[in-house]
Amino acid sequence: MELAGQVAVVTGGSRGIGRAIALELARAGAKVVIGYRSGAANAAAVAAEIDGLAVQGDVADTAGCEALVAAAEAVGPVRILVNNAGMTADGLAMRMSDAQWDDVLSVNAGGSFRMARAVLPAMVRRRDGVIINLASVSALRGNPGQANYAASKAAVLALTRTLAREVGRRGVRVNAVVPGFIDTDMTRGLPDAVLEGAKEQIPLRRLGLASEIAPMVRFLCGPGASYVTGQSFVIDGGLSA
Ligand SMILES: NC(=O)c1ccc[n+]([C@@H]2O[C@H](COP(=O)([O-])OP(=O)(O)OC[C@H]3O[C@@H](n4cnc5c(N)ncnc54)[C@H](O)[C@@H]3O)[C@@H](O)[C@H]2O)c1
Repeated sequence: MELAGQVAVVTGGSRGIGRAIALELARAGAKVVIGYRSGAANAAAVAAEIDGLAVQGDVADTAGCEALVAAAEAVGPVRILVNNAGMTADGLAMRMSDAQWDDVLSVNAGGSFRMARAVLPAMVRRRDGVIINLASVSALRGNPGQANYAASKAAVLALTRTLAREVGRRGVRVNAVVPGFIDTDMTRGLPDAVLEGAKEQIPLRRLGLASEIAPMVRFLCGPGASYVTGQSFVIDGGLSA
């Protein structure tokens, strides 16, 4: 129970990797506030499972981020932010619309920035805080059809390193977790041929599970990672090895 009593905000926590992270942080004793954009029933179900709170908040919207953080601060001082909310809008670059590009950059990169901006003043004042950003191996190796997504996740990695340098001396740590192909709604939409092709490139020969991402997030939030900041931790079954 190394996170006992600490308030953690997990964006996009109603399903997939975010849900697994919310459950894992709750198992470590954290009081978890789940941010969601849609799917209120799912979010409420996860919150009920862990005696947490579900709060509506679109990370593409500054007011939504600030409202989510304010609701969490009403529970208690927010010590942990997990920027997990993310989306894809795949397509070859030469046919990608401005909206596909803008939406993905705004949610994945912009959302992580807006949420960090909303939590940091209080974390810095308290000289205590942890931010974990969800990036992707698409940022490391590129992925055809994901120019927008890969660029957004590369931005998340750069944001992670920069924030770590800005707030390290104020007692706030910022790290990224970098998943490969994980079996969630996000990858279930991919054609079978793409998934089979991916498995052939993964040394462990399977997709990962959301429950295989969450323990790293828990570790990075806890005392065992007290000297770890500005880093990215790849969990991809060896895909990028
Ligand atoms: N599944 C994978 O293979 C994989 C690989 C690498 C990285 N990731 C990243 O992990 C994170 C979680 O992905 P997942 O696989 O669980 O996907 P998912 O689609 O199951 O979940 C994404 C969550 O984000 C929420 N969300 C989307 N846009 C939002 C917005 N504007 N405001 C608030 N919430 C919003 C969704 O409602 C959903 O709850 C994402 O950042 C994703 O990019 C996933």
